[in-house]
Amino acid sequence: MKITLIAGARPNFMKIAPIIHAIEKYSSPKNISYRLIHTGQHYDEKMSQVFFEDLNIKTPEVNLEVGSGSHAVQTAQIMIKFEQELLEHPTDVVLVVGDVNSTLACSVVAKKLNTQLVHVEAGIRSFDLAMPEEINRMVTDALSDHFFTTSEYANTNLKHAGIPDNRIHFVGNVMIDTLLKNKHRFTANAKWNELKLKPQSYWLLTLHRPSNVDDAEKLKSILTLISKNAGDLPIIFPIHPRTLQILKQLPESVVSKFILLDPMRYLEFMYFVQHAKAVITDSGGIQEETTVLSIPCMTIRENTERPETVTIGSNVLVEDITGLPSYMKQVLDNTWKKSGIPPMWDGNTAERIIEKLMELYA
Ligand code: UD1
Repeated sequence: MKITLIAGARPNFMKIAPIIHAIEKYSSPKNISYRLIHTGQHYDEKMSQVFFEDLNIKTPEVNLEVGSGSHAVQTAQIMIKFEQELLEHPTDVVLVVGDVNSTLACSVVAKKLNTQLVHVEAGIRSFDLAMPEEINRMVTDALSDHFFTTSEYANTNLKHAGIPDNRIHFVGNVMIDTLLKNKHRFTANAKWNELKLKPQSYWLLTLHRPSNVDDAEKLKSILTLISKNAGDLPIIFPIHPRTLQILKQLPESVVSKFILLDPMRYLEFMYFVQHAKAVITDSGGIQEETTVLSIPCMTIRENTERPETVTIGSNVLVEDITGLPSYMKQVLDNTWKKSGIPPMWDGNTAERIIEKLMELYA
């Protein structure tokens, strides 16, 4: 069986790494090979290359080098270049992960070339079409032949969409495979040491969703509220390039309340997460990672496609920003809810995926 694996943006790299390692584990006695395609959606060294180093992912066979652009431009560029790649290197299966523009673009190309398509992290839904990721998920799931899922919620969504049970495979969470495999390697970086941080003595903040950061006034009001309610603890804020562009427009009096850092390598960022008093974020993956590490997490969004991180895990959804102070107080008072870990998030998801693919396609 030949598999073509797609990775394009930062959260994809953590998801593709355990799949590659599972293929490599199975490849010698069994007939399975892969080709790794990087679309180049993320291209800064700090958003891409360092993840390949930290997670021991080999250099991709091809980098399509599409770079940034509007959604239409970026998606179209990936489609044009990936179609050429797939025509030159036909495969049995195209495997896509997550919900970024690269996921959608390569799914459309694969299916139009009549290639089997499998989606890892299928079925999750925010039902919010203002999120580009929701559109990416819907299109990818409309085209996929097999669906590998992280939660019962995803299974239910797919069943409601009419997908038969024998195409839905509840395998768990590949992002958590990466976390559990590398937990012992999480490491303090020079900044951690320079700031003399101690475990549980700081807030960690990440914001990059267009709905939170693209409007300077909205970003200003979120940041002001956070800094007012942070107590004596510093707020560490690694900045996504998208957020940095808007932050430059805000008054120094707002921004100076935060310790701004460059985007971090995986092993260093996860060290900051693991030792945070609490995390405030709008990321998808960080909701899952904090749940597995039992770190209080406040997600500044109106909805989540990962509700199990709220019902089972340590995450809360801050649908209205005015709700944030009472959650931050719970953190400072040490009265955060008790939490657990969702089923199948056990570190063995990628192996289950490869076993199933061998059964289906070998
Ligand atoms: C993308 C994903 C999002 C994911 C996020 C993680 C989509 C629709 N969105 O959002 O789901 O959570 O990645 O980071 O696919 N930029 C750089 N260097 C880079 C990459 C981006 O400077 O390496 C800047 C560019 O100005 C670019 C902007 O960041 O225009 C946004 O990048 P883009 O890939 O369009 O979306 P993200 O916001 O990163």
